Amino acid sequence: MRKLVYYVAVSIDGYIADPTGGFDDFLIEGDHAAVVFGEYADALPAHAHAALGTEPPRTRFDTVIMGWNTLTPALDIGIISPYPHLRQVVASRRRREVDPAITLTDDPLATVRRLKQEEGLDVWLCGGGELAGSLLSEIDHLVLKRSPVVFRSGIPMFGHAPYEPRTFERARTRTFDSGVVIEDYVCCGRASSPGPT
Ligand SMILES: NC(=O)c1ccc[n+]([C@@H]2O[C@H](COP(=O)([O-])OP(=O)(O)OC[C@H]3O[C@@H](n4cnc5c(N)ncnc54)[C@H](OP(=O)(O)O)[C@@H]3O)[C@@H](O)[C@H]2O)c1
Repeated sequence: MRKLVYYVAVSIDGYIADPTGGFDDFLIEGDHAAVVFGEYADALPAHAHAALGTEPPRTRFDTVIMGWNTLTPALDIGIISPYPHLRQVVASRRRREVDPAITLTDDPLATVRRLKQEEGLDVWLCGGGELAGSLLSEIDHLVLKRSPVVFRSGIPMFGHAPYEPRTFERARTRTFDSGVVIEDYVCCGRASSPGPT
C-alpha cells in the first residue's frame, strides 16, 4: 500500500515557515542538496526543474497534497499548477477557482485514506502546518530537513492542532557538512498515553 510521507523543511524548533509564511532562512545550498535534488527531485516544482534543466524522475512520489495556504505563494507569482508531474490535490473548505490539473478536497482525511488504498508511488504531504495537523493520523513517514536555525516563532509543523501524541521510530539520520540534518521517521501508531484529559 502506498504511504503518506510528510517531507518538509523545518527549523531546529519545528517551524516550517516564518510568521509571514516565508522560508528564506532555510538552507538551500550545501551538500544536503544532493538529497533534495536527487532522491526527492519529484518534490521540486516544475519551474525549478525548468531552471535546472532537469526532469522529474517520477520514482518517489506520484501525488502531492497541500493546504490552500501552501498553494497561494505559487498563485501569487502566476504559477497555477506547480507540480504538473504529480497528481495535485489541494485542501480547501471553500469553493475555489483552480487549474484543471488540481483537484480540490474539503475532506483531505477521506481523500488521503482513499489514495492510500490505490496502487502507485507514495503520496507527498507537502504541508502546510494546518493540513498536516489534520492528517497526522495518516502520516506513515516523516522526512524532516532540519536547518540549523531557531525561528522562535512562525508556522508550526502541525499548525495549532490539539495535543494528540503519536509515536515514530527513527529509521535514519543523515548529517551534512552544511549543518542540515535529514531525519527519517516511521510511524508506530498512537502513543500509549492518551494525553491530558
Ligand atoms: N518548510 C516547508 O517545507 C513547507 C512546506 C509547505 C508549506 N510551507 C509553508 O507553510 C505555510 C502554510 O501553512 P499553513 O499551516 O498556514 O496552511 P496550509 O495547511 O498550507 O493551508 C491552510 C488552508 O488549507 C485548507 N485546509 C487545511 N486543512 C484542511 C482540512 N482539514 N480540510 C479542509 N481544508 C483544509 C484551508 O483552506 P481554506 O481557507 O481555503 O478553506 C486552510 O485555511 C506557507 O507559508 C508555506 O510556505 C512550508
